[in-house]
Amino acid sequence: MALRIRKLHAGKDSKAAAIFERFDDEKTVFSFENRAMFGKIETAITRTNDMGRMPLWKEYQTVANYGRPIDENTKRKMVDVRTKPEFCEFYAWLVNVIEPDAVLEFGAGFGASGMYWLAGMGLRDHGKLFSFEPNDIWHPIARANFDTVSDRHELTLGTFEDNIDAVTGKVNIAVIDAIHTREFVVDQFAKVRTVAESGALVLFADINFSDDMKECWSEISQREGFASVWQLSNRVGIVELP
Ligand SMILES: C[S@@+](CC[C@H](N)C(=O)[O-])C[C@H]1O[C@@H](n2cnc3c(N)ncnc32)[C@H](O)[C@@H]1O
Repeated sequence: MALRIRKLHAGKDSKAAAIFERFDDEKTVFSFENRAMFGKIETAITRTNDMGRMPLWKEYQTVANYGRPIDENTKRKMVDVRTKPEFCEFYAWLVNVIEPDAVLEFGAGFGASGMYWLAGMGLRDHGKLFSFEPNDIWHPIARANFDTVSDRHELTLGTFEDNIDAVTGKVNIAVIDAIHTREFVVDQFAKVRTVAESGALVLFADINFSDDMKECWSEISQREGFASVWQLSNRVGIVELP
């Protein structure tokens, strides 16, 4: 399905507005020119998916308001948790346009979106991905997947919150794609802001995951003071920091 970028608000200082309005014109050619690399990534994803379902990080069992039933036997395979391909290609395009010094993403999951961030960095031969994954079964799989694309990454075994000092670069893009509840996301966003540069884009994954996440995004997106606020289809929210 085609990804749609919707502007919710943009002030006169927004730099993202001029960037995002290029996407519709550029996406088809970008996708075509990079089809070999994207094909290689999707092959790695299929290979990982064929490994089958693997246990979720145990902390999910303790989360209130999660929006999905979880017990000690809950498992997921890669396609269950991965960022969808059209969003992944947008991520690679965005890196190619912005040339960030650092992208911060948590969690890594099995590594799908991370491979696409790295693909964008490879096109520019610039930037580093700081990623985090606390699931000790999924973490080495994500690392191996990242390595199929590039070594421009530092993937920490553990949560972002407990390991924020691992982020040593200037973060121009950050993605919050971990436990999708307001309680976690609001606190994680506050921590992201301590390492993000002025003008950074902060992406919130799965904003319609549950009523709790809808409320979370509604609250964040209506806060005052962002340079701009966007939505990618109905899945990802974006704020441009002042
Ligand atoms: C939806 S998946 C991420 C999918 C991944 N971005 C992709 O596109 O393939 C969410 C991941 O976040 C991890 N996670 C949960 N809480 C976290 C935290 N506080 N810090 C880092 N990762 C976390 C989970 O273990 C899980 O692997």
